[in-house]
Amino acid sequence: MNCRKKVFQWTALVILPFLSFTVWAFDPLGTPDRDAIEYPEDEAPGQAEIELGKMLFFDNRLSINDQQSCASCHNPDLGFSDGMAFSMGTMGKRVGRNAPHLYNLAWNLLHFWDGRAASLEEQALGPIEAAGEMNMPLSTLIPKLKEVPYYDKTFTEVYGSSGVSKENVGKAIAAFERSLISDNSPFDQYLAGNKAAMSPSAIRGLGLFKGKANCAECHDGSNFTDNSFHNIGVKGDDLGRGAIANDKTLNKTFKTPGLRNITLSAPYMHDGSEPSIEAVVRFYNRGGNEKGGVDQLIKPLDLSEQEVNDVVAFLGALLDPVIVERPALP
Ligand code: HEC
Ligand code: HEC
Repeated sequence: MNCRKKVFQWTALVILPFLSFTVWAFDPLGTPDRDAIEYPEDEAPGQAEIELGKMLFFDNRLSINDQQSCASCHNPDLGFSDGMAFSMGTMGKRVGRNAPHLYNLAWNLLHFWDGRAASLEEQALGPIEAAGEMNMPLSTLIPKLKEVPYYDKTFTEVYGSSGVSKENVGKAIAAFERSLISDNSPFDQYLAGNKAAMSPSAIRGLGLFKGKANCAECHDGSNFTDNSFHNIGVKGDDLGRGAIANDKTLNKTFKTPGLRNITLSAPYMHDGSEPSIEAVVRFYNRGGNEKGGVDQLIKPLDLSEQEVNDVVAFLGALLDPVIVERPALP
């Protein structure tokens, strides 16, 4: 665990907040280690459980009016996001935040922009029940799924006598989500010794990402996230982590998003306020959109046009799409 994660935990516990001034160390950028995934009960899910989760992920039955599945907002063709600043719930209302991509969540410690869910199992049930999203009470969903012979049979095959239950719905969806792994991008091939895998511009961008542009201070490790929360100066009233941790010093901080396949999931930021990767890099280059309370690392970077393009090229080299074919629903 790196220093900042410890610092975050201490701060979250509101013990000795001044420790956040300790010297920071960061995890080197790299290729994710599949052996380091902490599966529940220390066991990787079998293919049957992943397939069941995939079916649920794409099934509109999970919404109250059969209009929406998880894939409506986390569309595999749009980088597991939906191309909108704010997603649209099944009843036609906008959700208050941008739909994040779902790549490499298997290594993630906390979920949502404000980190309010600690496990994918727990997270998956949230949008099903949320009135603004799928609006489906679990007490209605479970009998509805039991009536579908495929689900009745497959849940029992995978989970035994507990069969179709809310816990098992969460488990199956989480098993599918943990299988969305991207680890063979041009950047990974470059690290593995194929120096031609990244363009000269992307190679310069890597240097800037770790150096002059400061990106790796927060987007570190093999998934380009420190699993921590920062205020980077996106304008707006959303209190982010502050509201969850009930800690004013965390107001307007949001989870550092992982950046693998990031070019696929525009627009960006918790409010979808940046339309493209280039716009994001220009946002950082001018030192964000708001000054008060912003992380000290966010300041004008003085990147030249060429350097902006180089950072954009590097983020493009994190591309290794996960191809998921839509299943034929039962
Ligand atoms: C109406 C659109 C919508 C639907 C439907 C939806 N989501 Fe989301 N999802 C979002 C939004 C918006 C967020 C961010 C919310 C936040 O951070 O407060 C999110 C966040 C997440 C996250 C957290 C990702 C991260 O990086 O922290 C996961 C995992 C996720 N959704 C999975 C699912 C699953 C599984 C389903 C189906 C059961 C689903 N979502 C249905 C819009 C949606
Ligand atoms: C102080 C920590 C920090 C630094 C430094 C930082 N980021 Fe971020 N980054 C974040 C956080 C936190 C967010 C989410 C902020 C929000 O939505 O309000 C984010 C969001 C992003 C996003 C949008 C991702 C998405 O899914 O919407 C991209 C792309 C990104 N950063 C790239 C970069 C690049 C490139 C640099 C260097 C120029 C950089 N970041 C520097 C913490 C940081």
